[in-house]
Amino acid sequence: MGCRLPDSDPTAPAASPASAGLELTVVVPTFNERANVRKLISLVEAALAGRRWQVIFVDDNSPDGTAAEVKAVAAVDPRVLCLHRVGRRGLAGAVIEGIMASAAPFVAVMDGDLQHDERLLPDMLRALDQEGADLAVGSRYCGGPGADASALGARREAGSRLANWLGRQVLKADLTDPMSGFFMVRRSVVEAVAPRLSTSGFKVLFDIVASQDRPLKIIELPYTFRAREAGDSKLDNGVVVQYLGLLVAKLSRDVISPRFLMFAMVGASGVVVHLAILRSLLHLGFSWAQTLAALGAMTSNYLINNAVTYRDRRLKGLKLVGGYIKFCVLCSVPLAANVAVATVVYERGPAWWVAGLAGAVVAAAWNYVTTSKAVW
Ligand code: GDD
Ligand code: MN
Repeated sequence: MGCRLPDSDPTAPAASPASAGLELTVVVPTFNERANVRKLISLVEAALAGRRWQVIFVDDNSPDGTAAEVKAVAAVDPRVLCLHRVGRRGLAGAVIEGIMASAAPFVAVMDGDLQHDERLLPDMLRALDQEGADLAVGSRYCGGPGADASALGARREAGSRLANWLGRQVLKADLTDPMSGFFMVRRSVVEAVAPRLSTSGFKVLFDIVASQDRPLKIIELPYTFRAREAGDSKLDNGVVVQYLGLLVAKLSRDVISPRFLMFAMVGASGVVVHLAILRSLLHLGFSWAQTLAALGAMTSNYLINNAVTYRDRRLKGLKLVGGYIKFCVLCSVPLAANVAVATVVYERGPAWWVAGLAGAVVAAAWNYVTTSKAVW
């Protein structure tokens, strides 16, 4: 791997023979980026003058009409395509589908909000095409000025560095910015591991590198992460939790799936909720307190699982209510068992919390198996 300053040599390869095929697909995941679409296309066009490229926007049916905007351009420019997904959400899944739709030997991934510097694309292409790299990564942390002071807040900046450090402990490759959303890769490198990639979360590059069986030849190129001009970032706490799940999945060599891990962590939080309610309502009598505690834990588990574990299939509106009813019906089967087990344990003498825990554990196993199939 090497990290080096950008080539200031602008003698980019001139127009290639017309008979030659597509060189590069630029995959741009979008959610509510309508205002950035046209500007991004013209910037890419200017950066890649003389190269044979296409850009595929992968839009998750953004409410602001991003897909319609892309299609308006695509109608008059065959280099522009729109992969318009419905009923699905998620950056990683969008990026993977965009890459899989490409027929070019090289694929770049770049955000649709103009935060990534498109002028790096020719250097990335040269690294792959002429220097035989498998992967070229736009890095915020390998020399160069890093990020615009205004691009990341102090908290986000610290979080980003911590996520990076954790990622480097798991990856065999020595990347300075494994969290980068800006990179170019040989299509074959992604195709080789595609079935193993996680479609939830933000960390596609990390996942692609961590899933390889052989070390990749990687070149990092510094760039300045620009401030966002229009729209909002979609990176929130849920994305952070998903990333931690991905780290553990990769540490366990994919034995533990990120989703299962998430469900288990939510379950553990439910146990805390359960015990807290149980303790505060003990004066109502143990059976009542245990029933209400189980209901409270069930509700909080449902809401957190819906927001985080099944974020990509998140239920909303009426479906959220319908899902809750199904979830409650499924969970009330072990609820009876839960209360029975806990009451039996309690009557034999151990502390109230041992009894409560015993009931909750019996219920948890049933819940994971049934709700993963029936609710989401
Ligand atoms: N299709 C689709 N579906 N696109 C999405 C989704 C989604 O659910 N969520 C976000 N996007 C798109 C956004 O529209 C944007 O083009 C891009 O993905 C990045 O989303 P942001 O919300 O702007 O992320 P960020 O700026 O906070 O972080 C990005 O840059 C960092 C630095 O390279 C991400 O790429 C991070 O992974 C990266 O570390
Ligand atoms: Mn952004």
